[in-house]
Amino acid sequence: MKTPAILGLNWKMHPASRKEVQGIIEELAASLSLMRHSQITIFPPTLFFDEVRSMQEQTQLYISRGVQEISDMATGSRTGEIGAPMAANSGAEYALIGHSETRQYNAVSDQDVERKFQRAVEHSIVPMVCVGYQEGSESGEVNYTVLKEQVQTVLEDKRSYIRDNGIIIAYEPTWAIGTGVPADPETIETVALFIRKIIAEIAGQDTRDTTYILYGGSVDSSNVSRFTEVENINGFLLGGASLKPQEITGIVDQMEL
Ligand code: PGA
Repeated sequence: MKTPAILGLNWKMHPASRKEVQGIIEELAASLSLMRHSQITIFPPTLFFDEVRSMQEQTQLYISRGVQEISDMATGSRTGEIGAPMAANSGAEYALIGHSETRQYNAVSDQDVERKFQRAVEHSIVPMVCVGYQEGSESGEVNYTVLKEQVQTVLEDKRSYIRDNGIIIAYEPTWAIGTGVPADPETIETVALFIRKIIAEIAGQDTRDTTYILYGGSVDSSNVSRFTEVENINGFLLGGASLKPQEITGIVDQMEL
């Protein structure tokens, strides 16, 4: 794995209470050293964003924060959505964009992802673009046509932004998310190279080489060593494991973050 690496902690719709949030942050702060882990980003539910922030201050847990989703509109009549300006003003440095679950359950399209990307960068939020959602796909299957479309639609008009700022893309095959069955390292490497090739076509060789590609899908402390060996991957996006401080510490240790 090329370094420096990035680790994203996607809490999704967990935990259920502030008390549990406090427990996780306290435990995480105790197990991670007091170093600044700016390459680790936590994506809590928005309702707990301030709780996480104040707990971080109390425990001196120096990791970045991000939102799990962002609206394609900056502001307006969008019940239930989170606008980029409010996310930025609340201290979000990153936003997950195009996660499989939003594509699957909220019908987020590639075009929506492109607009969300635009809103994020207008407000200095770094997007982590998730790709790999394939409707009804079998375990192990990679649809390269769909994958290419997902990357191209979001990035082809963002040439100058990604040349200047770089880009983080998380490859998360639908069939590996939350199943306990991750993709195999060979598939991940093939996909990472494929994504880099598309980036090179869009923004040139230099951007291809500076692009961060994360893998997500059933990564935990018992299997992460298989993926740290993957040459073209620069980190991981964790779902289930992100709620378990011991898992996170185990993964961080093996990534040498
Ligand atoms: P998982 O989720 O680690 O629970 O498979 C990953 C994700 O959805 O980001």
